[in-house]
Amino acid sequence: MSETRNSLCLPLLFILSFPALLYAQNDFNPYHYQVEKRALCTHGAVVSAHPLASRVGVDILKMGGNAFDAAIATQLALAVVYPGAGNIGGGGFMVARLANGKNLAVDFREKAPGHATRDMYLDSAGNAQAALSQNGALSSGVPGTVAGLFEAWKYARLPFKKLIQPAIDLAEKGFCISSAEASNLNEFQSTFRKYNTVMPVFVKEQPWKEGDTLVQKELAHTLRLIRDNGARGFYEGEIAGLIVAESKRSHGILTLEDLRTYKAIEREAVVFPYKRDYSIITMPLPASGGVLLPQMLKMIEDQPLKKYGFESVKAVHLMAEVERLAYADRAKYLGDKDFYHVPVKTLTSTPYIMARMKLYDPNRAGNSQDIQAGQIKPESEETTHFNVYDKYGNAVSITTTLNGEYGSATVVGGAGFLLNNEMDDFSVKPGVPNMYGAVGGEANAIAAGKRMLSSMTPTIVLKNGKPYLVVGTPGGTTITTSVFQTIVDILDFDLSPSDAVNMPKFHHQWLPDILFVEKDLPQATLEELEKMGYHVKKREHIGRTEVIRISEAGGIEAVGDKRGDDTALGY
Ligand code: DON
Repeated sequence: MSETRNSLCLPLLFILSFPALLYAQNDFNPYHYQVEKRALCTHGAVVSAHPLASRVGVDILKMGGNAFDAAIATQLALAVVYPGAGNIGGGGFMVARLANGKNLAVDFREKAPGHATRDMYLDSAGNAQAALSQNGALSSGVPGTVAGLFEAWKYARLPFKKLIQPAIDLAEKGFCISSAEASNLNEFQSTFRKYNTVMPVFVKEQPWKEGDTLVQKELAHTLRLIRDNGARGFYEGEIAGLIVAESKRSHGILTLEDLRTYKAIEREAVVFPYKRDYSIITMPLPASGGVLLPQMLKMIEDQPLKKYGFESVKAVHLMAEVERLAYADRAKYLGDKDFYHVPVKTLTSTPYIMARMKLYDPNRAGNSQDIQAGQIKPESEETTHFNVYDKYGNAVSITTTLNGEYGSATVVGGAGFLLNNEMDDFSVKPGVPNMYGAVGGEANAIAAGKRMLSSMTPTIVLKNGKPYLVVGTPGGTTITTSVFQTIVDILDFDLSPSDAVNMPKFHHQWLPDILFVEKDLPQATLEELEKMGYHVKKREHIGRTEVIRISEAGGIEAVGDKRGDDTALGY
């Protein structure tokens, strides 16, 4: 095993200590672990938002599990050690490339409950009530994660009980929390108190601190029921009953029928060529990346980005304008295509994209009032991402979420897991921004059983037909632009995976008409962009991107983002 620590991102961000006697497994120690930013290896790798989850995944690979086994175990571990976003009460998307060349796209996005209605978050005067779509059980869609895990398991090799056991142990016996988790939990104390009738283990009299042990007995019980009864252990029986009881107590509308009928959906992956050697595989709707990523990449494919230079004014301007154009279409046209006709073919077609690029002025910032969505003729900040690559050649890319940090903030009493607040990803009223500032209309209006539009963009890039990059990130609406930039940084600017992950990102989403930039983008570039007419706004982190790159010779390089405790491990 050759693991390296990225000198850029200081190793040993934290080392937590506590008697490790409860866990005897090799070097797996939930009371003493460290962040590792970069792994160079030859057999397999996992990169996720938490060192313990990455460790669980790699141990499964070492046991002979494939990338699907490791992904399932990693997701379940994240549900325990990374409660703000890792989840069983939320949903997500999986994109995979099997060793036999098959592409896979699994949609385990939440759906609107059967009693959901278009105007359910409007008051009697017709005003949107963000408090209802963003907190408490009324903000929850029907969770999809557990169904998604069992859909993924069809491609796995090991018994499910082996994959879920590490998560059960972590919940039952506890693990030491990081300093980031401690401060997040402290920040949410009053929110948890407000949105729970049965106080969850996250609520504590004394402030949480780094190294405290978090034990989640009720969650362990829920996980055991899933271990023993499969997906039905979650969607039916005791846990389903507890979810519905919690929803009733917390003024939500989830029913037993909603849970019983939830299905993960295997969809056709979006696949398109980029430049001569590459193919991009990504998630279709209701993940917006399936439309926006091909749009943005096709818009820049023939432009001399390399000549312009990384972080140059010309390059940032071109990429920001491309983002603006794509997000204008997102707001008007994108939604769950099982409920609303989305002209995907036209939106991603070369003539349409060429016509859109006529709006691009290389010398001047665009203006979102002038730039609207294209004309279409009728045609026939908390989520988490992880990647796995295994020795058999399977690649898995999963983005999963509760939506906001700790989701609805409502923990299912007696079952110990957080419910999502994914309903806010619908357009609760045309033109009213959601918590990520995204606007929408008819295409993404609420309807019973419909899936809310997502920005999550788990992606795999093939080079000459073989997996080359596995990539994805959290970050609300910045997800698609971060995936776009990471791909361009590696394929066009020849950046290393570490630089592509860690160098500053920027983001334009049409509305608001602002170019968001991370603080370390060169000041000179920002000043020039302002002169061109951009409204530039510096912001904290954009995304937490994870990348695995596989060289043609078979070397694996996994990189975790410096912006969090993200950890890359391999063997
Ligand atoms: O599906 C979506 O687009 C959002 N629910 C994702 C939320 C997210 O990434 C928050 N993370 N920082």
